[in-house]
Amino acid sequence: MVVIVGIASFVYANKTPKNPQQLGTVIRKIEPLKAEIPKADTVTASVTAKPSTEISSGVIITEKGDEILVLINKNIRLPETYEPGDLVSIDGLVKTTHSGLLLRAEAAKALGSITKAAKDEGVNLIVLSAYRSFWSQQATFSSWVGSAGLAAAETFSARPGHSQHQLGTAVDFTAESVNLGLTENFTQSKEGAWLSQNASKFGFVLSYPEGKEAITGYTYEPWHWRYIGVENTQRMTQSGLILEEFLQRYGVI
Ligand code: DAL
Ligand code: ZN
Repeated sequence: MVVIVGIASFVYANKTPKNPQQLGTVIRKIEPLKAEIPKADTVTASVTAKPSTEISSGVIITEKGDEILVLINKNIRLPETYEPGDLVSIDGLVKTTHSGLLLRAEAAKALGSITKAAKDEGVNLIVLSAYRSFWSQQATFSSWVGSAGLAAAETFSARPGHSQHQLGTAVDFTAESVNLGLTENFTQSKEGAWLSQNASKFGFVLSYPEGKEAITGYTYEPWHWRYIGVENTQRMTQSGLILEEFLQRYGVI
């Protein structure tokens, strides 16, 4: 049964979902991941009130959510109960589309720094989304399944437990110039361009780069940045790997 949960609208303007990536085969033991997300063998049911272990059978559940380099993807997820212990409000640190957004303390501090640096250069960053609980992600994903269909939703929205937003270290940026939406046009905006040039200095990396859908399992998201710290960002940049590859090699599960 499909449960469609009404939530505040998250604007995904200009989004054209393609190439659905679905969940992989049943595996309980942790093995080195392949570079590519395995192709689906089944399409599982849409989100229901059942525990997600029944929905996403075989997915690895990591207990390492607190680790800054934990790998979360379509095959590895956080427990329903995982919530970072050091969430803080980002109100006052950065302009947001709505109040009450949270991030882990270290990520929030970095967000304050990057926002100030941008502002000093005449760039006004706005945050649309930050920490999302398992249940908030379930509502978000279910809403997308309802409006776009399961296959499409899989290409741009994470199933509950599979979102970096549950880590409290991922941020969706937007700007007035893109009408406070989440759109690929953000790439060309002053704010998006500034982030591409400068985010790494503050420890933020792009999670879902353009042309890497086969590796990440998600379409290009120029707005979604994950905080991994400045040193790790430098290591990643030097490695030439994208975040998914870097965490498969150097991250933890
Ligand atoms: N849009 C990203 C994949 C998420 O839902 O976490
Ligand atoms: Zn995001």
